Amino acid sequence: MKATAIAHPDIAFIKYWGKADPKLRIPQNNSLSMILSEPYSLCTVEFSNRYKKDEIVFLNEKEVKKEELKRISRVLDRVRKLAGSTLKAKVMTKNSFPKGVGLASSGSGLSSVTLASVKALGIQMNQKDLSRLARLASGTATRCVCDGFVEWIKGEDDKTSYARQIFTPNYWEIRDVIAIVSADMKKIKSTKGHSLAKTSPFYEIRLREVEKRLKDIKMAIKERNFSKFGHIIEEECFSMHAICLTSRPSILYWNALTVEIMRKIRLWRANKEMEAFFTIDAGPTVHIICEGKNSRKLVNKLKGIKGIQRLSVNKPALGVRAIKKHLF
Ligand code: PMV
Repeated sequence: MKATAIAHPDIAFIKYWGKADPKLRIPQNNSLSMILSEPYSLCTVEFSNRYKKDEIVFLNEKEVKKEELKRISRVLDRVRKLAGSTLKAKVMTKNSFPKGVGLASSGSGLSSVTLASVKALGIQMNQKDLSRLARLASGTATRCVCDGFVEWIKGEDDKTSYARQIFTPNYWEIRDVIAIVSADMKKIKSTKGHSLAKTSPFYEIRLREVEKRLKDIKMAIKERNFSKFGHIIEEECFSMHAICLTSRPSILYWNALTVEIMRKIRLWRANKEMEAFFTIDAGPTVHIICEGKNSRKLVNKLKGIKGIQRLSVNKPALGVRAIKKHLF
């Protein structure tokens, strides 16, 4: 009745921003991401009649929000319902990275809670259904279930909205060098950002454009055409952040260092020093994408920018999976 899962966050190249159905977390558009190899979340879940109520423990966390506990309790409730069980559970979870800085901590955290709960109650579930179940806990968790390069098909209801792998982790040797520029929690959670998206006068335009970008990026990945791919991800990054900036109220996720890094990347490209491109999720962290052969050189160049707190080099990685080593 005990199981443990490991999951990684992902970086979205085509972003999920805005929900068509907030309750079921049906997104307004399909999104596409790559699972990251370095950061991870671990979760052990045990169901037992020894527990009189659900106990949820976060390791390495200074502050746990009520909302996070609620999200995990709801996962337990959904899984208990599927298994027809009334057993209470102990959940222990741990992240290898700071929360709320633009790494999809909810994606890896809640996909690992979902798989560990499902396994702990012995439910057999295919990947599509696991992705649907994870979606009810967190949007990005929908994608973190799959390996490598992943597309979340928006669908129109609970049955049809799920993620699937489009290319394996080995398909393309690219790297995401993550530059953590601030350890502070972001001020505006993505949940709030999603709900404000439609207040931007440019949102309808974004939704029209994003479909073409999705088609083009799939082709660029298929062809392993790095330049084409890179220009699409920067365009998409600014499309999402243009919505944030023009939402009412406006959201600005970047800090001065975020902007400095973006400028440097473009300068290095213009000077033919380094072909790298950036993308940014809902925080100040910059994800700099390069080809595998250039990652060492890119890291050395980034080390020359003052103020970056941490650099992490990521390959395309596996989605959520069960492991044998438990946290308790
Ligand atoms: O899953 P959420 O609610 O944290 O939304 C994540 C949204 C972005 O990271 C900004 C984009 C994405 O597709 O991951």
